[in-house]
Amino acid sequence: MSNLFDVYPIYDIEPVKAQGSYLWDQNGIKYTDLYGGHAVISVGHCHPYYVEMLTKQMNAISFYSNSVRISLQEELAEKLGKLSGYPDYKLFLCNSGAEANENALKLASFHTGRTKVVAFKKGFHGRTAGAVAATDNPSIVAPVNYNRHVTFLPYNDVDAAENGIDDEACAVIVEGIQGVGGIHVATDEFLQTLRRKCNETGAVLILDSVQCGYGRTGKFFSHQFSGIHPDLMTMAKGMGNGFPIGGVLISPKFKASYGLLGTTFGGNHLACAAGVAVLDIMKNENLIDNAAKMGEYLMEGIRRIGGYKELRGRGLMIGIEYDFPVKELRNKLLFDHKLFTGVAGANTLRLLPSLALGKTEADAFLKALETEISSIHETTLNN
Ligand SMILES: Cc1ncc(COP(=O)(O)O)c(C=O)c1O
Repeated sequence: MSNLFDVYPIYDIEPVKAQGSYLWDQNGIKYTDLYGGHAVISVGHCHPYYVEMLTKQMNAISFYSNSVRISLQEELAEKLGKLSGYPDYKLFLCNSGAEANENALKLASFHTGRTKVVAFKKGFHGRTAGAVAATDNPSIVAPVNYNRHVTFLPYNDVDAAENGIDDEACAVIVEGIQGVGGIHVATDEFLQTLRRKCNETGAVLILDSVQCGYGRTGKFFSHQFSGIHPDLMTMAKGMGNGFPIGGVLISPKFKASYGLLGTTFGGNHLACAAGVAVLDIMKNENLIDNAAKMGEYLMEGIRRIGGYKELRGRGLMIGIEYDFPVKELRNKLLFDHKLFTGVAGANTLRLLPSLALGKTEADAFLKALETEISSIHETTLNN
């Protein structure tokens, strides 16, 4: 019995060491990481350059408030703008994905003076007041969070978007690929319709890129496959490779003013050092291209193994939906094959590995999956 507030169902495994795409537990058992601690480990565990940047920063200065110049913030904003293809967008720094969405919704509301938010079924935007109200999961929306501002439309439904976004809408918030909802990729037509409707009605288009952003899909942002430009993009997870940091990229049409947004910890020295290290590594090691290449490699292997109902995703954001609950399959991958994976809903296995995943690690996963799928297949045939 511990004194922790018990909200997480956990595996009784304690990783005590990590390197690249591998983890070791307290008994020295080695695990291959196909999940990256839920899409967070972007450049690999304990990358030497990342460790060096953070150690140096820790020895120099870890924190001062946003009342002084922190040039690391400027370096991060410049590098992020360049690598993401949005050099003219401004950056607001915060600490998590939910907070990034909270600030994006506030900006949209300040900008338009409106309150109505259009969000999508099966979407997930975080657990703070505004973000959770825009999340389609009543079990995590407390009465105090519930508000009448949010309308949920079906995802990837062009007609619903055409009719459901009007000039009362302050924001349309959407994931380029729904993560928690099961790895559903937005179609080009859907995202282009959202862009056009926002242009017509004056609503602000927010692309929640917390899970599908930061190079994971083989482009910096997944919406870049569809050729649209959002007004606001939110990010977190991969941004700090484990150091808590979130951000909003903000189109030049938004005017900043002192006090409009703010945070104590957002943009602190350590978070920015982590953020800059991640962008440097992504660029120097071509990790976005690697995500595209390794994603294709994994997808090909999964297709060859077969036995699934649907294979979805882009780059290293992959969902394999089966026609049976995947809990046991995930446990077998973890305990028998020493492979970390994730799930989305009951029937979908979810892969969100580091963007630096190599062929050896991908092959280890494919071999284990093949063994387990053939064994499930044999059992079904024998029954
Ligand atoms: C798409 C998306 N938005 C927002 C969040 C919330 O991020 P955080 O847990 O950092 O608040 C998540 C977390 O899973 C997410 O997947």
